[in-house]
Amino acid sequence: MDGNGRWAKERGLPRIAGHREGSASVRAVLKACAEYGVKFLTVYAFSTENWNRPQEEVDFLMELFGQTIDNEVEELMANKVKLRFLGRLQKFSPELKQKMSKAMEQTKDNDRITLNVMVNYGGRAELVDAVKEIVAEGRREIDENTISQHLYTKGLPDPDLLIRTASELRVSNFLLWQIAYAEIYVTPVLWPDFRRDQLKAAIEAYQKRLRKFGKTAEQIDAG
Ligand code: FPP
Repeated sequence: MDGNGRWAKERGLPRIAGHREGSASVRAVLKACAEYGVKFLTVYAFSTENWNRPQEEVDFLMELFGQTIDNEVEELMANKVKLRFLGRLQKFSPELKQKMSKAMEQTKDNDRITLNVMVNYGGRAELVDAVKEIVAEGRREIDENTISQHLYTKGLPDPDLLIRTASELRVSNFLLWQIAYAEIYVTPVLWPDFRRDQLKAAIEAYQKRLRKFGKTAEQIDAG
């Protein structure tokens, strides 16, 4: 969800104002995804590296996560949204962890759309955690499925579309394993301005892509 800081700066506002507006984009994009029949939306809300930001900004984001849970769970229930927080959750305060667990428990049977919020998340950290689990289980036979089934995203399909806002041309340690065949869409739009119309444009661009998964275009045409 890049560009929150830039959005605020352009308006002479503090960075945190950009994060607040960015949370409104999450709501708008989630609603549009549900209407379009998208089953999974995964947002990168806080990386393992984001702890290095100014303390005031980190504190604000922690506060915002808690507030968002308090304010939104009722509406998530009404709209049958399953909410999941994925990442190294152990690092959060006991209070925030408790809010996250409670919200996950409350929404776990909702089946219209799943919103995965990646927090204290890093793709490399996720792979390390997966390998540790596999070793602890004493497994010897390891294939791609073994890895997939030990990631935080176990049981979820790999993403079809990766949207990168604010013109960033990096993967930034996001879902390293899972995006192997994702289609990438980069837009200059800053995350707080990314709403329904921008999502629609991203999906339309995706629909024009030919997904080959290593095959030739001719093989795909032949079915
Ligand atoms: C990156 O933009 C954004 C973040 C590190 C925070 C994103 C968090 C939210 C939008 C809150 C959403 C809340 C929930 C519960 C889903 P940036 O700060 O790097 O912007 P810049 O690149 O312009 O500096």
